[in-house]
Amino acid sequence: MTRSGDVSPTTIHQAKLDAMRRVRSHGGVPTFFDALVLAVPEHAEDEASRNLRRRLLTTLRSAGRGDEDPLARLARTPGTDLPGYTRSCSQGTGTPTVWQGRTLFKSVFDLGLYQQLLQRVRPATVIEIGSGSGGSALWFRSMGTAIGSPCRVVSVDLTPPPDADDDGVTFLRGDTAALADTLPPDVRGTWERPWLVVEDAHIHVPAVLGFFDPLLRPGDCLVVEDSLAKQETLRDFLTAGTHAAYMADSALLDLYGVNATSAVNSVWHVTDRVGRPDLGAGADGVAPAYRPAATVLPAAGRRSAVRPTGPAAR
Ligand SMILES: C[S@@+](CC[C@H](N)C(=O)[O-])C[C@H]1O[C@@H](n2cnc3c(N)ncnc32)[C@H](O)[C@@H]1O
Repeated sequence: MTRSGDVSPTTIHQAKLDAMRRVRSHGGVPTFFDALVLAVPEHAEDEASRNLRRRLLTTLRSAGRGDEDPLARLARTPGTDLPGYTRSCSQGTGTPTVWQGRTLFKSVFDLGLYQQLLQRVRPATVIEIGSGSGGSALWFRSMGTAIGSPCRVVSVDLTPPPDADDDGVTFLRGDTAALADTLPPDVRGTWERPWLVVEDAHIHVPAVLGFFDPLLRPGDCLVVEDSLAKQETLRDFLTAGTHAAYMADSALLDLYGVNATSAVNSVWHVTDRVGRPDLGAGADGVAPAYRPAATVLPAAGRRSAVRPTGPAAR
């Protein structure tokens, strides 16, 4: 950036070279985004050009962070690039999306993002909290099969959809306030790893996070949907310290624009980066499987909030 807050012509020039490299690697086909990068004027001084340059660079740098500390991510990107009306239309207008005869309450952005996420995580078990009409559980199962990584799907709801059980898909009656009753060790003990846990009930979110946190292992993934209004809850959860060590998937969260998803800042991979040895055993009596990272943990053994740094912090 220049002193006036504009993006320097050199930086834009470099972004264009990178875009040309991407286009070449895509067999010469530019994405809409790459076409925009290639078209943006490097020197024009009008406000629209300056804003476009800033916006393009912000998106590229944000997505370019890859996996990052989720607290840093929460501080850095508090909002979404999705315009309100686009977001409102993105689950369907006259009708929601339908999958195998059942409505599916995923935005078109999330459908695309989950397809990418499933290919990265390749979950053996998808645990969905909040079944809706059952369409999303069936869709997860279909997508697992489509990518050659069939997954079992377990979906929990206060009122499970009737007659929706399918091959590999189980609907369970349960309350987010008391998941241990619905998912005791003998039930969840049969689930193969990796797990993809999707919170999509929006009630008792801290209880849901608190239930799964000690059960998650490296390679698992946690998604909290419709989280624009849950940012404070997510921050509180992370700040209090967690059993699992999470990394936010910024490449995915920003794939279609910064936080162009219902899961605003909340697609988290479980890593073996840092554990919480002071929290002891998890709900299954199993200690967190992470190497204690004494050099990273402060004296009290709590994970600390990482403050955003660098040119993309805003
Ligand atoms: C947004 S819908 C789920 C949509 C579905 N996952 C999809 O993508 O199509 C939210 C669901 O959460 C369920 N729900 C609400 N409160 C709940 C609670 N306390 N415990 C369990 N499920 C609850 C509702 O019955 C509803 O089906």
